[in-house]
Amino acid sequence: MITATDLSRTYPDGTVALASTNIAIPKGQFVALIGPSGCGKSTLINLLAGLDQPTVGTANIAGRSAMVFQEPALFPWLNIRNNIEFGGKLRGVPVSKRHEQSDALLKMVHLRRFADAFPHQLSGGMRQRAAIARALMLEPDVLLMDEPFGALDAQTRSLLQQELLSIWQATGKTIVFVTHSLDEALLLADRIIFMSARPGMVVGDVLVDAPYPRDVYGHPFLTSLHTRLQDLLEKEVAAVAAAEHDDGWMPPLSVDTAFGTGEGI
Ligand SMILES: Nc1ncnc2c1ncn2[C@@H]1O[C@H](COP(=O)(O)OP(=O)(O)OP(=O)(O)O)[C@@H](O)[C@H]1O
Ligand SMILES: [Mg+2]
Repeated sequence: MITATDLSRTYPDGTVALASTNIAIPKGQFVALIGPSGCGKSTLINLLAGLDQPTVGTANIAGRSAMVFQEPALFPWLNIRNNIEFGGKLRGVPVSKRHEQSDALLKMVHLRRFADAFPHQLSGGMRQRAAIARALMLEPDVLLMDEPFGALDAQTRSLLQQELLSIWQATGKTIVFVTHSLDEALLLADRIIFMSARPGMVVGDVLVDAPYPRDVYGHPFLTSLHTRLQDLLEKEVAAVAAAEHDDGWMPPLSVDTAFGTGEGI
């Protein structure tokens, strides 16, 4: 469903953000893309979405894709229903069909009572739910999500994780989900692709064969995978810190205290 072949991106200022990346993602997979800050995750997902052009190589999605960003990109002058329907309107979907679809999506993301509200009247979590509904309105085969829950509080985040899982299970869409959090990756994804410090390259690729709903701390396989990946992530974060030569500063890393790694860095 998604292929990246020898994909590289060097920005005009010479920054090599992504180097020779090869990825193949079959239909229906839920892939988490994880790696230290600045390793090229957004670069990769933007290339997959066609929002940016590679310097070398090709990115291809067999079908339609829709993107969900960290900050929900809603039109402030449109109410929630019209925000959700926007993509349908662009594609020339008739009004009655659009309403039918937005009704179903508003229900799916639990925003039926807020159809007539404007984005500024909603909380961050509600806005992000609206952004997900708007992406789904495009009837994408692939959902590309760049840290979609990164700006949310822990409770809202947990709620939206559950909702995303139900949407995935109900629709069977292919999902690429960028996250800083190993916990989040292990909770959601059936495959985790691990990227190295800049220039970004795939350094790990594991299938997470565990049933849903998951209890990361109560499942022996998930627990051991967590430990292994945590080591890898810390190594990569240390590599970034060394490359930055910035005394004592470490990029943000989601560290899970239950695993004895102490406080967030
Ligand atoms: N437009 C640009 N011009 C120059 N350099 C850029 C540009 N966009 C990103 N970069 C650089 O490319 C590298 C990868 O950036 P990218 O945004 O893809 O990282 P990321 O993995 O998404 O990081 P984060 O986890 O912090 O979101 C970084 O070193 C960044 O400074
Ligand atoms: Mg990013």
